[in-house]
Amino acid sequence: MPVYIIGIESSCDDTSAAVIENDRILSNITANQEVHKLYGGVVPELASRAHQQNIIPVIDAAVKKANIHKNQLSAVAFTQGPGLLGSLLVGTSFAKALALGLDIPLIEVDHLQAHILAHFIRDDDRQKPPPEFPFLCLTVSGGHTQIVLVKDHFSMEVIGQTIDDAAGETFDKAAKIMGLPYPGGPVIDAFAKDGNPGAFRFAKPDIPGLDFSFSGLKTSILYFLRDKLREDHDFIEKNKADLCASIQATIISVLMNKLRDAAQQTGITEIAIAGGVSANSLFRHELLAAQKTMKWNVFIPKLAYSTDNAAMIAITGYFKFLKKDFADQSSAPYARSVI
Ligand code: KG4
Ligand code: ZN
Repeated sequence: MPVYIIGIESSCDDTSAAVIENDRILSNITANQEVHKLYGGVVPELASRAHQQNIIPVIDAAVKKANIHKNQLSAVAFTQGPGLLGSLLVGTSFAKALALGLDIPLIEVDHLQAHILAHFIRDDDRQKPPPEFPFLCLTVSGGHTQIVLVKDHFSMEVIGQTIDDAAGETFDKAAKIMGLPYPGGPVIDAFAKDGNPGAFRFAKPDIPGLDFSFSGLKTSILYFLRDKLREDHDFIEKNKADLCASIQATIISVLMNKLRDAAQQTGITEIAIAGGVSANSLFRHELLAAQKTMKWNVFIPKLAYSTDNAAMIAITGYFKFLKKDFADQSSAPYARSVI
């Protein structure tokens, strides 16, 4: 008998629901919240309210698209954390009510584990089988930058992480300084296509081991632009493409260098990336190049599974379902990472 899991994701500013049949995706519906664009970043209070408005239509659409009846669902999986508490509460409460109403198990999912397990989603255009254990996964999102040694679906060890800001946050902040809209990562990526990545140089962090630091880079971009704007009011406008290309190249080279170090130290050549920044075109290009030069076996999630989505919650729920790792109605969300 197939297992049908509905996954619910509401950790930040995307309300998403997905239905999976065993490891095969049937639907993955996401409502993005446009409201934050006005503020240049996610406003937690507005995010919770938008989740409340979006959650029922999104769930309904996911079940309809999956072409199943809700009574066929085997379990409800939801993002327990980390994330914005108010946002998580909406998904958590809805998941509890749905599980109670349908009298099916409730499954707690860690958002960061889910980003990694997104590599196990089976869909029609999957290019190759999922990574083999052990593999390395560099998870890079708006809130996280960490290299994880993945020994099994639920045995994961963080071997390097940012000591301050995340890589995605650096993209977003750089964009904000340049007056570009939120989220900045995709905008910088788009402008960078017409720019020269060597046009401007920014100080790269020098952090020992496999840890990252991005706060110095953020400050160096801020001071550089402040000085240039004093000389020329239109500096950003005139150099937008070159600035975006140079900032992007700096961030991606920091990520690639640490990933190379991690591969060398562990001797692991199964290399995956996850999280919103894994949508970055230069990052993807560099990884594919490393596949040839470093003989890595590289795993890049499809765009729909890179940024926040419920398909990754559903697949993680599926693996937990197989282990009968169920939660009860006392489950509560958490804001900070636990892996
Ligand atoms: O995983 P995600 O959707 O949400 C979090 O859990 O944070 O990641 C969002 C982050 C944002 O910082 C966004 O700017 C970044 O991913 N991002 C990108 C690209 N697409 C999204 N960064 C660089 N290049 C992109 N193409
Ligand atoms: Zn995420």
